[in-house]
Amino acid sequence: MPLHPVMITRFSLRLPDSQAGFSVRRPMKQANELIKSLDTLFIKTYGCQMNEYDSARMADMMKQAYGLRLVAAAEDADVILMNTCSIREKAEDKVYSELGRYKKLKDKRPDMIIGVGGCVGQQEGERIQKRAPYVDIVFGPQSYHRLPEMVKEIRRDRVHVSQTDMPEIEKFDHLPKAESHGVSGCVTIMEGCDKFCTFCVVPYTRGAEISRSVEDILDECRDQLAGGTVEISLLGQNVNAYRGPGPDEEEWDFTMLLYAVAELPGLKRLRFSTSHPMEMTSELCQAFAEIPQLMPYLHLPVQSGSDRVLKLMHRGHDRETYFRIINELREHCPDIALSSDFIVGYPGETDEDFAATMDLVERVGFDSAYCFKYSPRPGTPASKSEDNVPEDVKDERLQRLLTLTREQARLAMQAQQGKTIDVLVEKDGRRAGDMEGRSPDYKIVHFRGQHRQIGQVMAMSIVEAYGQSLRGELILADS
Ligand code: 5AD
Ligand code: SF4
Repeated sequence: MPLHPVMITRFSLRLPDSQAGFSVRRPMKQANELIKSLDTLFIKTYGCQMNEYDSARMADMMKQAYGLRLVAAAEDADVILMNTCSIREKAEDKVYSELGRYKKLKDKRPDMIIGVGGCVGQQEGERIQKRAPYVDIVFGPQSYHRLPEMVKEIRRDRVHVSQTDMPEIEKFDHLPKAESHGVSGCVTIMEGCDKFCTFCVVPYTRGAEISRSVEDILDECRDQLAGGTVEISLLGQNVNAYRGPGPDEEEWDFTMLLYAVAELPGLKRLRFSTSHPMEMTSELCQAFAEIPQLMPYLHLPVQSGSDRVLKLMHRGHDRETYFRIINELREHCPDIALSSDFIVGYPGETDEDFAATMDLVERVGFDSAYCFKYSPRPGTPASKSEDNVPEDVKDERLQRLLTLTREQARLAMQAQQGKTIDVLVEKDGRRAGDMEGRSPDYKIVHFRGQHRQIGQVMAMSIVEAYGQSLRGELILADS
């Protein structure tokens, strides 16, 4: 079945328009009366930071609507939600195998509610309920604000509910206020993608780019800051493609938004992810020099170092453009840590193309990298080309790229040794007496400290570098 952004299924119970913009309070009260026995919620999250954010919002919403309490094990839950990801292969298989586990729980407790959301929900739609009839709810990333209504329908009518349309209305208008979830918080500023890289399902599962208004974003940041958050990461599939309505009724771009967020009282650190090279303006590169709260770390996926493959992928830029951006960033912020995504084995990728990717990595030098073997995703243009790079060649290229990027990561860690850096203390460490935080360039730092230091930015000297983290020693008394 071709992917299509609007999939209302035969089982589907489309809410009447009058409910499309339902108010959180009124229906909730009625629902509460119906759903006394639901008490606990378990959410299984796959994929990116964006899904983590969505899961947190689902939890906020179900707590506000039904008083559901989050639990750590599916066995203890009255409602199980899966927030899925379909970006790379085997996503559907993983979902079905996890569902098999939940079925056993439901056999014992038939009143339990099981929902499958996120990108697999969007993509598979009614097929999920055909294959796994014990699944009560299927929903896409743009319709989870309707979860309380869907739960209510199920409890009342014992039906399957499927909501995978992408409504015009913004789901953000219908979500309760975000709760602060700790020192470091996320705020989604835009969703979806209009870039249509040939290998990628995101434009089909998350839909077209939609930007939230500046005021909405600032309000959510203020709420999080008031709740104790000191670091905010602005999220979106293409954050720097942000174009949203500003308070002056003009369209604001991403850089304007960054400056506005940076001014919020209480904000110590600002980050964003994920960016597209084609949207890296000079103003944005300069912002790294001008906004003290903006941390020197950028995830900028390039996918390939070969101009030929970049063209086949419809990335819209060549390798020279990528180098130019990196140079400009480093001019403004010499210590910026860079990270990227790479795909090996794209259809038609030759040894020469792959050598160009290795060369790009050597020239740029990344602090971290996410490397993937190409896999055809249903409905994407690339899936119509033969997946013709043999598996063993893909494996070998992946290994070579991993070896190179891991070595670069190791050197980047080692280069921190002896430096004095500011660490934002985030949580207790795994070892007793240890605390854990992050450096400005997003490296994990362990140190001997105290729980009450959580939320503080503390100067420390780096005394040791490990593969994935650093060890620091406090050099100042805490403020
Ligand atoms: N095959 C392999 N990797 C993929 N990615 C996206 N789609 C595919 C695919 N079909 C990778 C890209 C992207 C990251 C989030 O996932 O590198 O940047
Ligand atoms: Fe996918 Fe390309 Fe959009 Fe990134 S920019 S989400 S890789 S289509």
